[in-house]
Amino acid sequence: MRVLVSGGAGYIGSHTVLALLEHGHDVVIVDDFANSKPTVLGRLETLSGKTIPLHAFDLTDADKTEHLFASEKFDAVIHFAGFKAVGESVEKPLDYYRNNLDSTFSLLRAMTRHGVDKLVFSSSATVYGDTAPVPYHEDYEPLSASSPYGRTKVMIERVLTDVATITDGFRVALLRYFNPVGAHPSGMIGEDPQGIPNNLMPFIAQVAVGRRDKLRVFGDDYPTKDGTGERDYIHVMDLAAGHVAALEHLPTMDEPVRAFNLGTGEGTSVLELLHAFERAVGHELPYEVVERRAGDLPAYWADPTRAQQELGWQATHTIDDMCADTWRWQSENPNGFPEG
Ligand code: UFG
Repeated sequence: MRVLVSGGAGYIGSHTVLALLEHGHDVVIVDDFANSKPTVLGRLETLSGKTIPLHAFDLTDADKTEHLFASEKFDAVIHFAGFKAVGESVEKPLDYYRNNLDSTFSLLRAMTRHGVDKLVFSSSATVYGDTAPVPYHEDYEPLSASSPYGRTKVMIERVLTDVATITDGFRVALLRYFNPVGAHPSGMIGEDPQGIPNNLMPFIAQVAVGRRDKLRVFGDDYPTKDGTGERDYIHVMDLAAGHVAALEHLPTMDEPVRAFNLGTGEGTSVLELLHAFERAVGHELPYEVVERRAGDLPAYWADPTRAQQELGWQATHTIDDMCADTWRWQSENPNGFPEG
């Protein structure tokens, strides 16, 4: 298929671009580099041995989006582009609603106008809110989220469902990611957060490489195996493979919209992840336990059965793989991607 990948220069997008190319698909990227660097492109081309067409613009620009679809043919879209920092979304809700919803509206308008009717959407486990029973199952309703960022995912899932339901042939896969970590085994691409990392794995990696003094563990009095928060960490290579499986499944899907959890089905605590990273690095890493972070849930993980049965997809990488690959990327690129 010829696939337009929005946000294809970002962390999950870039790994998925490589997986698509490896599976014989043609890829076109649209990205405005709001949260990524243009130098990722050269690395993707080196790794794949292919030239990857790129359109550098903001998808909230409906005219540019329409122009792209009027001038090129696509069989499908994978929509990663969007703002994703939970804390920032609380400070700037309107920016999040505007950016994440408007870009989706532009895409959907152009897709329906030009007969592109297959879409894979980057959703999140955050749509299960804070009352869903663990493990999370795709049928759980009602969806809700505790941050404006998360609510954009809930809203976009709703919009896509309504549009697909009334558009003949339209097929949408809603991929609900758990906690993506890890990097390409080459060490050439990986997660490159701007500023202080919000998420656990990139923070640990920056402590290990000497960019941060120590990890702050947000609470050790949760009702979990060791008192620290438990999450379902999934290797970004597994996640990328999940996108390819979903894309290839879309044309055979009976219903217009289907949600799939992409997770391993296993919970790992903050301290377990830290100790796994220490094994990858070969020495202990400094940490201190501080107050709980507002809004954090104690523990959740995926029920990944549906993706196994319907997509034939399953996560295969272990926590030690995730840490070893993150460490290779971080140690070989201590400051992330170079400026372009
Ligand atoms: N944590 C720390 N110290 C840190 C960072 C995180 O102890 O410096 C802990 C958190 O308290 C939590 C765990 O590590 O227990 C994981 O935290 P992350 O910030 O890495 O991930 P979250 O599970 O909080 O967030 C993820 C995604 C969001 C999504 C959210 C809800 O990153 O996009 O899940 O599903 F919205």
